[in-house]
Amino acid sequence: MTRTKFARPKVNLFLHITGKRTDGYHVLESLVCFPSGGDRVSVTAGDRLSFTQTGPYAKNMGEAADNLVMKAALLLQQTYGTQNGAQIHLEKNLPVASGIGGGSSDAASVLHLLCDLWQLDVPLNDLCKLGQTLGADLPVCLHDGPALMSGIGEVITPVKSLPKLYILLVNPGVEVSTPAAFSKLTRIGGSPDAGSFDDLSCTDFIDRLKICRNDLQKGAIELVPQIGQALDALQSNDDCLLARMSGSGATCFGLYESLEAAEAAGTEIASHHQNWWVDASLMQVTL
Ligand code: C5P
Repeated sequence: MTRTKFARPKVNLFLHITGKRTDGYHVLESLVCFPSGGDRVSVTAGDRLSFTQTGPYAKNMGEAADNLVMKAALLLQQTYGTQNGAQIHLEKNLPVASGIGGGSSDAASVLHLLCDLWQLDVPLNDLCKLGQTLGADLPVCLHDGPALMSGIGEVITPVKSLPKLYILLVNPGVEVSTPAAFSKLTRIGGSPDAGSFDDLSCTDFIDRLKICRNDLQKGAIELVPQIGQALDALQSNDDCLLARMSGSGATCFGLYESLEAAEAAGTEIASHHQNWWVDASLMQVTL
């Protein structure tokens, strides 16, 4: 039997960098949502671990052994001393190195799927500690629901519910190196007190997001000017309630009251930028 799971994009609705540790990692605060769609990860029982990939962005991925999915599978296998294997397949639909945590979300999905396949009863907190060794976004992707992230990404506070809004993701087709985006930070600011994000109306939610920022956005635009173009394209649409970059870029997002408005904005942007990745969906999937 094949088990399949969507590895949803992870969008940082805001991202405040509040400090820097001696090991170079940054302390942050971020509100994260998981729109519908994403990569599709599947696992089938096998004698050893194997990995295949298809999909529009499979060609942008490196060697199988370097893939975070394989690293996560090997780590789980070694940590829990299982002799089981699995055939892992990844349908790579999300752009690579694009600020929406595709690799982390893929790795989180494979950890969940393999725990199920191998009948490993691993508490979520233990899985997060394991995942964290592969990347700072793994814990929030393992939670797979709207959440506030803090620390360097390992402290997760789930948010009860987000308002029913729609999101348009726009990627201008340029990969951004996360360390390079962090290295462009010139000052570390505080985090505005936006209050709780639980159970807000659409209007209150947008108003709170507006007093927040993505602290990596300015430096990322200096590295990749196309990010500025993507934000301008989103902001030029009257229905767009808020436009911002996610993570370290280059993917930017716009928020809308209806799917029709998000799709219409996406169609308009795509008509001017044929090589950009554009995807409209529900801002947060209800599981
Ligand atoms: O943990 P991950 O591999 O995703 O991080 C990639 C890079 O992003 C790190 O090497 C570091 O340069 C930067 N980073 C950071 N602070 C974080 C997360 C990532 O400085 N909290």
